[in-house]
Amino acid sequence: MTPAPIITIALSKGRIYDDTLPLLAQAGLVPAIDPERSRKLIIPTNRPDVRLVIVRATDVPTYVQFGGADLGVAGKDVLDEHGGDGLYQPVDLDIARCRMVVAARSDFDYPAAVAQRRRLRAATKFERTAREHFAAKGLHVDLIKLYGSMELAPLTGLADVIVDLVDTGNTLKANNLVAVEEISLVSARLIVNPAALRLKRALLRPLIDTVAQAAATARARRLEAAHG
Ligand code: ATP
Ligand code: PRP
Repeated sequence: MTPAPIITIALSKGRIYDDTLPLLAQAGLVPAIDPERSRKLIIPTNRPDVRLVIVRATDVPTYVQFGGADLGVAGKDVLDEHGGDGLYQPVDLDIARCRMVVAARSDFDYPAAVAQRRRLRAATKFERTAREHFAAKGLHVDLIKLYGSMELAPLTGLADVIVDLVDTGNTLKANNLVAVEEISLVSARLIVNPAALRLKRALLRPLIDTVAQAAATARARRLEAAHG
C-alpha cells in the first residue's frame, strides 16, 4: 500500500509563526511542539499527515519553490525580493502587517536631495525593492546591502537613507529617524508549490480554503473592532 502523502508547511519563528497559528487552529491544525522552546526544525502536528518545518523568513519561498515544503507563509517584502518564480500565491493572510518605507535622519532633507537628483547612498536588506523604487523615481542610488539593524546606517554615516519595514514606528523614533516616503504596504501571504497542489490536491485544497476563510473572518473582526 502506498503511504498517504504528507503535507509540509514552512513557517518562520516569531511574528509569522505567532500570527499563522490561530489561522491553522481554525483549520483544526495544532503543532505538537512549541518551536520557540525546542531546537527541533520539523514539528509534528495533531494531524499525522501534516507537519511544519521551521526556516528563516527569507528562506520560506525557496523551500516552497523547490518542493522542500508544499505550503508556506511569507511576507510580501520577502516575496518581492525572491521574485515569486514557481510559487502560487492564492491568499493574502493580512497578518504581520507593516509598511516598506524610505527613512532618513530627521535633519536630512530628502525632498531637496530628490529634487536636485543627488546621488544617494541607501542601506537595505531589500535590494531589489530599493533598486526598483529609486529607479522608478529616476534617482541614482548606491545600494549598501545589510542584513539587519538598518537604522544604524544613517546614524553612522554609512548611508543617507535606508529602505526598511516599519510597524509602530518605535524603532525609527528611538534612533531619531523619520519615514520620508512610503513604498508599499506589506502583509504575509500563503504560498503554494504548484506541483504539490496538483499531486496532493485532495489534501491541500481544503486546507488552503479553510485557512483563507479563517483569514477573511479575522480581517472582518479586526475591521469591525476598528470601526466600533
Ligand atoms: P530573517 O530571519 O530571514 O532575516 P526577519 O528577521 O526579517 O527574517 P521576522 O522579523 O520574523 O523575520 O519578520 C518576518 C516578516 O514579518 C517580514 O518578512 C515582514 O513581512 C514582517 N515584519 C517584519 N517586521 C515587522 C514589524 N515590525 N511588524 C510587523 N510585521 C513585520
Ligand atoms: C523590523 C524592522 C524594523 C522594526 C520596525 O525589525 O526591520 O527594525 O521591525 O518595527 P517598529 O516600527 O514596530 O519599531 P525586527 O523587529 O524584525 O528585527 P530584525 O529584522 O532587525 O531582526
